[in-house]
Amino acid sequence: MQPCPGVGTLGVAVSLPPRYVLGITPTPLMRAERLEQVLSCPRLYIKRDDLIGFALAGNKTRLLERLIADALAMQSTVLLTGGGPASSYCAGAAVAAASAGMGCTLVMYGEEPRPTHPNLALARAAGARVHFTRSPLRESVDLRLLEVEAELRRSGERPYPVPRGGATAVAALGFAHAAAELGQQLVERGIHAATILLASGSGVSQAGLVAGSLWRGSAWRVVGASVSRPPDEAAAQVRRLAGECAALLNLRAASLPEIDIRDARGAGYGIPSQEAERMAVVALRECGLVLDPVFTAKAFVLLAEVARASDAEATIFWHTGGIPVALDHLVRVEEAARKSGCDASPSSPDDRGHPANQPGSQEIQV
Ligand SMILES: Cc1ncc(COP(=O)(O)O)c(C=O)c1O
Repeated sequence: MQPCPGVGTLGVAVSLPPRYVLGITPTPLMRAERLEQVLSCPRLYIKRDDLIGFALAGNKTRLLERLIADALAMQSTVLLTGGGPASSYCAGAAVAAASAGMGCTLVMYGEEPRPTHPNLALARAAGARVHFTRSPLRESVDLRLLEVEAELRRSGERPYPVPRGGATAVAALGFAHAAAELGQQLVERGIHAATILLASGSGVSQAGLVAGSLWRGSAWRVVGASVSRPPDEAAAQVRRLAGECAALLNLRAASLPEIDIRDARGAGYGIPSQEAERMAVVALRECGLVLDPVFTAKAFVLLAEVARASDAEATIFWHTGGIPVALDHLVRVEEAARKSGCDASPSSPDDRGHPANQPGSQEIQV
């Protein structure tokens, strides 16, 4: 994969960190007509970052393209970052670093999971070194990252440290460019005003979209479905990252719109909810979308409500990926149901017995 300059695609004379191409873009923008009927909502579209074509890393591919480019520019030797053992971001970071000729060290909260998770196995297969904090707290990653950074420096490496989720302004530029990509696709369909819904975790993808929308002067509302933090906290984090990203784009943070965050946590981060499981079945059967129980399915629950309240010409569900988490979850639910003698397959999407209240639906460490 070749580094390519990513400067000025929007016709604005600013000098930006380049893009290190990993994914295949533009990702498709798909009209979801069957879903429109089922949800009784007009003009629904799906932005298919699940099809981005890089290590099943979904939205995180766009962030990693900017982080890797920046790391290479700084002549860093190791990408150092962290998250949970089931994190698609961590797996994507490991594969991205390897494909750029860099090492990767990951710090994960908790203990080594047994059985392992596909994303952890993917990270290791890509050559990542993994440290576990042995604390169940996600925040335990932050301190350990500092310690591992110092250890790496002492051993002669030049680490490029990145916080959990890839939440930096440079990474957000990947989604500012995604705003330009979507803008072009909407223009081709004659759509000017749109409402965009996406799952928000660290908030960096939403922040990039918000800054990118301002950058290209788009009449969009970007709605984040917060799956991990209380809405106030999530909004503050998105606002900070969007402001920093706007500064990189030579825009004034004060010109950014209000951050729109909805609470999509249910019982908590990584805990599957019955409603999200039900909607994942709807998405799968009506338009072949594979949704994961931690991010995309919880955001999808809000789609009908957001679309009905919107006066825009179209509502776009940004499918951010999560395929390894989705498949691993389905397998675990089915295995657990088999062991306990239950049937894990819902006969209809309305079958509320599936699968959040089945054995095997415990917290997922993403
Ligand atoms: C599938 C999926 N969707 C959404 C997100 C959230 O993205 P962000 O951290 O940029 O808010 C993640 C984060 O890992 C993810 O894996």
